[in-house]
Amino acid sequence: MDITSPFKIDFIKIKTNGFFLKRKLIKKELKKFPEKRFPNFSSNREKCNIDSAFVKIFEDEFLKISKHFNSMMNLHRSWSATYSKGDYHVPHNHGAKGYCGILYLDMHEKSPVTVYMQPWNNHEDHSILYEPKVEEGDIIIVPQFVTHFTRPNLMSFKKRVISFDFNF
Ligand SMILES: [Fe+2]
Repeated sequence: MDITSPFKIDFIKIKTNGFFLKRKLIKKELKKFPEKRFPNFSSNREKCNIDSAFVKIFEDEFLKISKHFNSMMNLHRSWSATYSKGDYHVPHNHGAKGYCGILYLDMHEKSPVTVYMQPWNNHEDHSILYEPKVEEGDIIIVPQFVTHFTRPNLMSFKKRVISFDFNF
């Protein structure tokens, strides 16, 4: 028997250098774009223009991404989302091409992390899930086609993330 695994998906995790200062700076920018209430969470995704500030403040981290892919990244859009107690996000993906990132801005060790679903069926139960271990300041990068969701937040601590889509 000969087994090969030609297809794989890389999950890239980057730890933000000097996160506490950078968080303070980006939160100041985010204040200009208040989040509004969606049925299951709050977000400013319909109106948010923090892209240039985001790239500037997190320059070191974006440089790491560009270096890894050996190409300059091109940020399409970025926005924040907040999960209060009971909030969640249904399974969705961000499109067919490009990459999406999540920066964990406010995160308690018991806050729900983003759960990623294997994009092909498992022969046993169709439910291979991946929950990366993350803490505040971590950035996770995956291809946009990977479906993901967020389980209900059971804590009163408000989890907040910045999501962003990019290509090269
Ligand atoms: Fe998403």
